[in-house]
Amino acid sequence: MKTKSYINGKWKSAEKNFPVHNPFNNNIIAEVDDMTRADCVEAIDAAHDAFKIWSKFTASKRSRILKKWFNLQLQHKNELAELLTKEQGKPLAEAIGEIKYGASFVEWFAEEAKRIYGDVIPAHGSDKRITVIKQPIGVVGAITPWNFPSAMITRKVAPALAAGCTVVIKPSELTPLSALALADLAEQAGFPPGVINVICSKDPNAIGAEFTSNPKVKKISFTGSTRVGKLLLKASADQVKKISLELGGNAPFIVFEDADMEAAVDGCMASKFRNAGQTCICTNRIFVHENIHDEFVAKLSNKIQALKIGSGLEEGTHVGPMINEAAILKDEAILNDATSKGAVIPIGGARMEGQFFQPTLVCDVNREMEIFSQEIFGPIAAVYKFNSEEQVIELANDTSYGLAAYFYGRDYALIWRVAEALEYGMVGINTGMISTAVAPFGGVKESGFGREGSKYGIEDYINIKYMCWGGV
Ligand code: SIN
Repeated sequence: MKTKSYINGKWKSAEKNFPVHNPFNNNIIAEVDDMTRADCVEAIDAAHDAFKIWSKFTASKRSRILKKWFNLQLQHKNELAELLTKEQGKPLAEAIGEIKYGASFVEWFAEEAKRIYGDVIPAHGSDKRITVIKQPIGVVGAITPWNFPSAMITRKVAPALAAGCTVVIKPSELTPLSALALADLAEQAGFPPGVINVICSKDPNAIGAEFTSNPKVKKISFTGSTRVGKLLLKASADQVKKISLELGGNAPFIVFEDADMEAAVDGCMASKFRNAGQTCICTNRIFVHENIHDEFVAKLSNKIQALKIGSGLEEGTHVGPMINEAAILKDEAILNDATSKGAVIPIGGARMEGQFFQPTLVCDVNREMEIFSQEIFGPIAAVYKFNSEEQVIELANDTSYGLAAYFYGRDYALIWRVAEALEYGMVGINTGMISTAVAPFGGVKESGFGREGSKYGIEDYINIKYMCWGGV
């Protein structure tokens, strides 16, 4: 376990530390060195110098080092997953899934590194020729969240490095250990000093301020809340810095009358209770056609009651602890608001001893309640009734968010209409699981912009240069 920050190929200590807690029992797992804004400047300088070397490596040389990093992550997947569960709380099986998911971005972009092709465009004059090349943008500041402490790093860093950029990573102060473990493996993989830097600090504002104001940082990639994303966007405006934002969501999950009921219930469980509901693409509002509502709710209730809650390290746990007390208070407030306006809670509805929240089912909800418009980020399934395609599309789109949406149905014409009408960056059709390195992850509206993963993911880290050749 590493606790110092990784700057310019060295492990750097600080004068002060901050504790990292295990959300299961609140025990301190580690004291992590608390870096200052001056340390962040040092990391940016190192990344700036390393860019001159790394961006000149051939694509296949960058690719080989990325492949080594990928192999090391898989080789150490069990230790990485255990560390992740300890600092984040998610069940070990999910943590192993996250490590493999995270590593898959490194593998994918190791391959994409070799395919950053330019273009030759038919010119506008017979004496002219037009070529287009793609160049790495420079130093990238990556700010990553606590809910996926490993995969959200690789999803940003792998395309950046593949393109020839260098990075300074600021992991969440709640879960810095997974980031440091990835840096340890990056060192073993042979990245030159300064190509990857990790700066841990319990003062995210100071690091964010340095990223947005330092002209050596050419790009910021952030995953986290819409509130913080807006602050970063405003602060980046002065230097017109390129920025990618993967922000909050308010995912609808629609079950049409002709849906495969069993599949819809399973998909709903998977997308709702993953990571105790603490995922940006988690189902937030479940809309069920009125003719099948009662049957769906009965089946969903059975599955919710069968969920095992406990330590992520215990075999068979489905739902781990919440990340902190604030997350529990937020869910309590959302439920209090809903019940005060007429919602009923057939299952769960309360906190449990320790940092747990009961998997909860809420019915008779409507759009006047906060639960309709707020991102729940907890294990609460809120079920709404609808009676027509038109009505449910209007309800589903009635949010400032636009990250993920899901629906279940069989009529292919309806499927096309609904998929096109949903104002979201990602749509799951007859599936509740959409995350993969090979597809573009990202949102619209206040869920942000930029895409991560897939052939599109690299575009956020390159500049396009057009060359006009005259006198030919
Ligand atoms: C997120 O919650 O932002 C990431 C979820 C995922 O990649 O599946």
